[in-house]
Amino acid sequence: MLADDKTQDKGVNHGVAPVTYGQGDRPPRGDYATAREDYTCEQDWAAYTAQDHDLYRRLYERQAAQLQGLACDEFIDAVQHLGAPERIPRFDELSQTLYAKTKWEVVAVPGLIPEEAFFALLAKRKFPVTGWIRKPEEFDYVVEPDVFHDLFGHVPLLFNPMFADYMQAYGAGGLKASRLDACELLARLYWYTVEFGLIHTPQGIRAYGAGILSSAGELRYSVHSQEPSRVGFDLQRIMRTRYKIDSYQATYFVIESFDQLFDATAPDFTPLYRAVRDLPEIEAGAVLPGERRFAVD
Ligand code: PHE
Ligand code: CO
Repeated sequence: MLADDKTQDKGVNHGVAPVTYGQGDRPPRGDYATAREDYTCEQDWAAYTAQDHDLYRRLYERQAAQLQGLACDEFIDAVQHLGAPERIPRFDELSQTLYAKTKWEVVAVPGLIPEEAFFALLAKRKFPVTGWIRKPEEFDYVVEPDVFHDLFGHVPLLFNPMFADYMQAYGAGGLKASRLDACELLARLYWYTVEFGLIHTPQGIRAYGAGILSSAGELRYSVHSQEPSRVGFDLQRIMRTRYKIDSYQATYFVIESFDQLFDATAPDFTPLYRAVRDLPEIEAGAVLPGERRFAVD
């Protein structure tokens, strides 16, 4: 069940950049006819079949079984807030619990949405969650984020006050980046933190990124494999670094705390965007001379 073989379990990434929405040749999968102007829609919970709920239950069970020692404590402590693991949560119920903790809400969307719409929702502390669930044959690998990735991967950390504020700041920063034509650089920050971030704890390296936490194979890989590089969080380094969308990451960036993440990203990025544009890109797996790398066992 724990397909750690990379060729089999590409269940790693979404296969698309989560923020660079709307690119690629595949049409997005959801039904956009029912979406409102801000791209939110009704969850239509009654439309899920018994098979849908059962698939969610199996995905949840597989991930929950491997969180200990691999996921950060903040995630493990909060995952229970998702509610009963045997059925897809009702977003409105989940939103009530979440709002009471950090004033965030979960809203349904048909699937991938344009980046400006995505940023606008985050800036209002609304996290867009895809309504549909993958098909049973996509148990190990789904190309676009589905309800399991969006909920299980992203929502638990929204219960953490510092991370919750970071996500809102990211949304506001995204609206600004759109005006500055810097979305690609900002998307790298999202990728290497929100999706594939690692955190250094007294117990060792742990995962906090949603793309890792919702992946059957990459969770263990990101924390224990000797293959990838683990580099200390560095904003400019991240914005220069390309990423892989069709395999496990070659480089992970490691934060010391959510406070560090929030504080390091608080300054105005305008001069940073300008500086990064004049510097060469860094390949996904490259290691720079003198760079501190975290060891794992
Ligand atoms: N400080 C960033 C800016 O000026 C906003 C931001 C905060 C972006 C946190 C991402 C994450 O653009
Ligand atoms: Co995601």
